[in-house]
Amino acid sequence: MRVEDPKIIAAIPDLGVKLERGVSLAELTSLGIGGTTDLLRIKKHEGIPGLLDLLDSNGVPHKFLGGGSNLLVGDGELPWVVLQLVKPEPEVVLKGNFAEVDAAADLGRTVTYCAKNDLGGMEGLIGVPGTVGGALRMNAGAYGMQIGSYVREVKLYRAADRKIETLKGDQISFEYRHTSFAPDDMMLAVKLELPSKPFKEILQGIRICNEKRRSSQPLGQKSAGCIFKNPPGASTGRMIDELGLKGLNVGDARVSDRHANFFVNAGKASAREMLALIADVRDRVAKAFGVTLESEVVVWNA
Ligand code: EPU
Repeated sequence: MRVEDPKIIAAIPDLGVKLERGVSLAELTSLGIGGTTDLLRIKKHEGIPGLLDLLDSNGVPHKFLGGGSNLLVGDGELPWVVLQLVKPEPEVVLKGNFAEVDAAADLGRTVTYCAKNDLGGMEGLIGVPGTVGGALRMNAGAYGMQIGSYVREVKLYRAADRKIETLKGDQISFEYRHTSFAPDDMMLAVKLELPSKPFKEILQGIRICNEKRRSSQPLGQKSAGCIFKNPPGASTGRMIDELGLKGLNVGDARVSDRHANFFVNAGKASAREMLALIADVRDRVAKAFGVTLESEVVVWNA
């Protein structure tokens, strides 16, 4: 979708927003899949309520993009514009055991920066691609930890109230790959409270997680991480593997040979192909195990 209304084009610079024309979402997502649309890059949080009022009152549909690492975007010209926060300088400010982090900050860099300052707890998240905002919204976790455990405050644009608010950690529920934020809420910043640990000890934890990930996940390939959630008490990767589906493909969309719950873009996969592969695997697992798999990856299909 193109922003054509001269009123909007004239107003956005004052809101700290930059318009980029005809951006390919394939280039902004780790799966490397997705059509084109206009991108609105937000340089200051304070401009967001005004920007959303402007878009909504002029009937311009929009979506918020984080790091694009857990996202499958539809093909072709997309029927909405995309908003994305620009990373500020600095991305992380430390105050004792608290880390104040901008939602646009890179998750891996944040974990490393905290570690270098003797703040641990997030070792399991090393190697999880994406932004801190995306990790927060999905309650990203790995190797027995989840980011929600460390959240003390979240600054967000709350769609229901149309304004920027700050929530305390205990006002938010963090469950397995799920949070109580509304779909249209936009994460802006988070305050984490992290346990003190010597850097050397954190580094050891980071190395172990990195090694486990390297040996079990297709890290060098284009993917969105795990496609499906694990059903309670079961492993989706193991179920798909047991059905012999590693390598199954629809065009260039392929079940990874390394981890069966990772579907990779082995070349020029389209969203249509990836969605067909997802539907096929979901069907086969339902027939064989009587389990309906729930998507873990977020799908933006027109
Ligand atoms: N397994 C297989 N074949 C496979 C993949 C896995 O038999 O192809 C078996 C493994 O041998 C293991 C079990 O299934 O016994 C579980 O596998 P793994 O340890 O890889 O963990 P997972 O449950 O598949 C979860 C998260 C990952 C996270 C890892 C490590 C979900 C959906 N996935 O995977 O998160 O990195 O644990 O903690 O919760 C993601 O969120 O995108 C993601 C990749």
